[in-house]
Amino acid sequence: MASSCAAGSKLWVTLLVTVWVLASTGSAQLAANFYARSCPNLQPLVRNAMREAVNRQPRLGASILRMHFHDCFVNGCDGSVLLDDTASFTGEKNARPNQNSLLGFEVIDTIKTRVERACNATVSCADILALAARDGVALLGGPSWQVPLGRRDARTASQSDANNDLPSPFSDLPALISAFTAKGLTASDMTVLSGGHTIGQARCAGFRNRIYNETNIDANFATTRRGSCPATGGDGNLAPLDTSPNRFDNAYFSALVGQRGLLHSDQQLFNGGSQDALVRTYSTNVNTFVRDFANAMIRMGNISPLTGTNGEIRTNCRVVN
Ligand code: HEM
Ligand SMILES: *[C@@H]1O[C@H](CO)[C@@H](O)[C@H](O)[C@H]1NC(C)=O
Ligand SMILES: *[C@@H]1O[C@H](CO)[C@@H](O)[C@H](O)[C@H]1NC(C)=O
Repeated sequence: MASSCAAGSKLWVTLLVTVWVLASTGSAQLAANFYARSCPNLQPLVRNAMREAVNRQPRLGASILRMHFHDCFVNGCDGSVLLDDTASFTGEKNARPNQNSLLGFEVIDTIKTRVERACNATVSCADILALAARDGVALLGGPSWQVPLGRRDARTASQSDANNDLPSPFSDLPALISAFTAKGLTASDMTVLSGGHTIGQARCAGFRNRIYNETNIDANFATTRRGSCPATGGDGNLAPLDTSPNRFDNAYFSALVGQRGLLHSDQQLFNGGSQDALVRTYSTNVNTFVRDFANAMIRMGNISPLTGTNGEIRTNCRVVN
């Protein structure tokens, strides 16, 4: 009698605590151990596949990080960015920020195939992408963090939301900040997450006006960049976003302090405005940068996930079931 009563009140405490936790944070359903029983080998499997990809082509670590960002900013981290266009379905891959720009979808396919072999119909594409992004950063020398898991995959996508909600490289600081606050992130989150540009490359069309027309730019840097980005033509020619595009370090922030930001949007973070002090801090303290980056990645990864019985676990990341 006494023991069953104790068991009963324990159950109630558990329920109350659960309800409280769910109510207090929007994404309390996500948990780092979500697949601990259902897919125990998930994380090494993702890490090994990412290691193979990054060893083959280091830029893929950057490309997958960006893909996760572009997933999360368009109706939450729900794998919508991975869906292919078909005759009867318009996805996000041909939205302006993504078309001829987002790379690495076949890496996610490879991981998904292996994960399905190990534990079928269990792990979402959205979670695979969140883990792969974390691993890409870590494999290029950046921080690692525990990824909250339990996202489910969308059955829909929105090209127009991708066009509207993803920030533009031609935006000024206020627009960059509001693109992030619209997603529940702060101006500081925006600045530290822009540190993702410590890895990867950009196309000439995205920075041409900056290197030919802007005045808040180091003259030697502009001259160098013009060498591979002509005033007309060569739209797809690539340039590194900082001096060490395959190394996750704080060189991006040092570049901003030296007016060597490649994109207009990059240099907006250090142009006499509210983010200058934080940029300076990151430029001189790599440990502060990587710690803040990891924490902000978790916040970005928590944007509006589908959980519980919402959405689905896609079999093939490119198509709804
Ligand atoms: C703050 C607003 C941001 C803007 C305006 C922006 C814009 C861009 C643009 C224009 C490119 C080059 C694309 C191309 O030329 O094909 C790029 C690349 C990249 N972005 Fe961002 N970005 C932003 C924030 C972020 C965030 C938050 C992350 C991740 C945390 C991120 C990660 C990357 C990475 C890793 C690349 C290189 C991709 C590759 O080499 O394949 N960006 N970004
Ligand atoms: C998962 O695999 C099992 C065993 O191979 C198979 O019977 C089952 O149909 C699969 N489930 C799905 C949803 O594919
Ligand atoms: C420089 O700015 C002018 C005026 O806005 C514009 O017409 C021109 O295309 C720009 N040049 C480049 C190379 O982007």
